[in-house]
Amino acid sequence: MNIEVTRGAIQEQTTELIVINLFEGITEPGGATAAVDRALGGQIRELLAWGDFAGKLNETALLYPSKDFPARRALMVGLGKQEEFDLDKVRQVSATAAHKAQKLGVTKYATIAHGAGAAGLDPSEAAQALAEGASLSQYRFTQHRTEKGEPDEQKELETVQVVVLNEDLLGPIQDGLRAGESIAAAVNWVRNLVNQPANYATPTLLAQEAQRMAQTVGLKFELLGPAEMRQLGMGALLGVAQGSVEEPRFVILEHNAPAEQTAPVVLVGKGITFDSGGISIKARENMERMKGDMAGAAAVLGTMRAVASLGIPHRVIGLIPATENLPGGRAYKPGDVLTTITGKTIEVISTDAEGRLILADALGYAQRYQPAGVVDLATLTGACVVALGSIAAGLFSNNDRLAARIVAASHATNERVWRMPLWKEYAEQIKSDVADMKNTGGRPAGAITAATLLSKFVGDVPWAHLDIAGVASAEQDSPYQPKGATGYGVRLLVQLLRSWS
Ligand code: BES
Ligand code: MN
Ligand code: ZN
Repeated sequence: MNIEVTRGAIQEQTTELIVINLFEGITEPGGATAAVDRALGGQIRELLAWGDFAGKLNETALLYPSKDFPARRALMVGLGKQEEFDLDKVRQVSATAAHKAQKLGVTKYATIAHGAGAAGLDPSEAAQALAEGASLSQYRFTQHRTEKGEPDEQKELETVQVVVLNEDLLGPIQDGLRAGESIAAAVNWVRNLVNQPANYATPTLLAQEAQRMAQTVGLKFELLGPAEMRQLGMGALLGVAQGSVEEPRFVILEHNAPAEQTAPVVLVGKGITFDSGGISIKARENMERMKGDMAGAAAVLGTMRAVASLGIPHRVIGLIPATENLPGGRAYKPGDVLTTITGKTIEVISTDAEGRLILADALGYAQRYQPAGVVDLATLTGACVVALGSIAAGLFSNNDRLAARIVAASHATNERVWRMPLWKEYAEQIKSDVADMKNTGGRPAGAITAATLLSKFVGDVPWAHLDIAGVASAEQDSPYQPKGATGYGVRLLVQLLRSWS
């Protein structure tokens, strides 16, 4: 999909469809909507007077102007209550418009820049949200379908034309649209990786996709296989990988490989391409969902892609430990003791608590960069899903400043986080009789004890962990999020890194 900006008046566009907006409860439209209303001889005021359109968020009404009006259709999209309007409403409204346009079978429409004018939002940020909403709403995972869908699913939107009256806003809106397009493209790419079945998305394929992406956007790419892992002493990652015939991979991506050695931000993503639980095998119900246990890895890859496309002026490193977790004949077992890259040892109580093991090695590896900050993303615990559902990721951090930055980024992107404690008492639960720690802490506070294990591998570097088990995939459609993989984390991390200083 192409998103363009042109200067002009929306009511003068010769096109199959124009999109205009209205806040809830308005009876006398203003701005572009008023201009369209005048051109339509008062049709919009008529609609409002009859109570057939209230302007509720994502409410739509379609008007068919007479032949002397240049556009064939006018789509009204409600903005909801004016006092509740924000960037996420722009995303939603833009998605609703794009969705409707696609259903109508038009390949192109002209729209006003929702929220960029009088609504009090920053024009560039509003334009970014518009591009994100439109592009994210069109995502579908169709790679493995050989039968064509409904006729109205087949036509793709080609062009969204954002029409702006005020010349001064053209530049900022253009910049916002470009950023939004890059970010949304990265999110949709991540959704593909996460939706991809595990027989396709093996650790090897994940690494190949990372390499291809790195070449396209210009990131430094490095790959470690089992031999290098052995040399480095990544006994936890290798332990988890033992049960599968698929070889593990460790991907290292670098943006702005330094001339001078500046302290980078290091992103780490859990890349379990399938989690059967291993010897501590999972129940059969819903096990197919565990193809998505690499959503953290995919989000880090997508963030690196966006960081490179946007040319963010900081050094950023992405680390991906990737393996399957299967109960093969050589599989690691409950009771085994694994030695991590830092030398610390972990007693395996459950082979299903594998994520924290591979992350222990990756976080240990991250220390070599003397990072300014480390952020890991992982579909780590069912306990986090119990605590926060699919509404927010669990945020854990040893650093209030970093945590506050992530919370701020979360407000801007509506990728929600909720901070959980890491009080030292929780560490009691993962004390082991035979090793430095054990990999499970029982049922109570399961998300926190998992994060507590991770905290043992970050030294005193500012670190944050996002448990995305609940938010990495959606069970229901919403305006810019079709059911399935969400791509959660890309928009959040890109926002964090763009505002990093
Ligand atoms: N990948 C799972 C966590 C998960 C659960 C992700 C549900 C997405 C949806 C993780 O590896 C796991 O199995 N965690 C165990 C830990 C337990 C054995 C301590 C869990 O949460 O049950
Ligand atoms: Mn598991
Ligand atoms: Zn897992």
